[in-house]
Amino acid sequence: MTRPPGSRTRLIASATARGRGRRTVNPPLERGSTLLSDRAEDMRDDNLGPVYGLEGLAPQRALAAALADLEGAHRTVLAPSGLAAVTLPLLALLRPGDEVLATDALYGPSRRFLTRFMAARGVTSRFHDPGLKAARVAGLFGPETRLVLVESPASLTFEMVDVPELAALARARGVLSAIDNTWAAGLAFRPLDHGADVSVQAVTKYVAGHSDVLMGAVSVRDPALARALDHAVEDLGWHVSPDDAWLALRGLRTLPIRMAAHA
Ligand SMILES: Cc1ncc(COP(=O)(O)O)c(C=O)c1O
Repeated sequence: MTRPPGSRTRLIASATARGRGRRTVNPPLERGSTLLSDRAEDMRDDNLGPVYGLEGLAPQRALAAALADLEGAHRTVLAPSGLAAVTLPLLALLRPGDEVLATDALYGPSRRFLTRFMAARGVTSRFHDPGLKAARVAGLFGPETRLVLVESPASLTFEMVDVPELAALARARGVLSAIDNTWAAGLAFRPLDHGADVSVQAVTKYVAGHSDVLMGAVSVRDPALARALDHAVEDLGWHVSPDDAWLALRGLRTLPIRMAAHA
């Protein structure tokens, strides 16, 4: 039986699989707003790719595909910063009257988004002791709890929670689980394999890896969640530049080597 290729192999394979013959490792950098079509009817043919830069050109598409492969996702959506990647699922999936349960050790700006922006729009939040075991966290779910926002390890104080157990308990109660997976970079831990609904990471940190890019990524397996995220990005008009996506893709190829040094 052959073993499926590991992350290190797949991060290289996704570069070399593109096309045949002599070619660059990463897609050439394309910049564009309106794209040219030969015939008017081509603009309606989805098989011919994007018609406008907001839909993402070659670098953004290659990066999103490589991150989706890394996270074991059906879809990865890029966001203009790590914080935007945390806020995207909250914007896309929550409605007035819903409640979010999150660790008290949550990344500060994520907490501020919940207590300032979301609270003003009718979504409430509660924060639990970061040291609680998963069953105790799930014991705090109330009738309005719609999403549990997890960090494991938590920002700065590094408390850990049993993600598979918490995700399973949440699913059983109809509560969505979203995890900020920045510390693991989609490499040391794949939350979607362990039952989480949404895996978020600040690409800014380990994936981009050279302190010259701000970006985030949101990964999901459920096509309905993917559709909700896609619609939110489309409605909000968010965009990640092809230059930044190209830099992040270049960083991604050496992520395993750098993560070993970080660790
Ligand atoms: C755990 C975590 N999540 C999200 C972010 C936000 O990333 P960005 O700075 O790209 O907005 C950070 C940044 O420090 C972080 O540490």
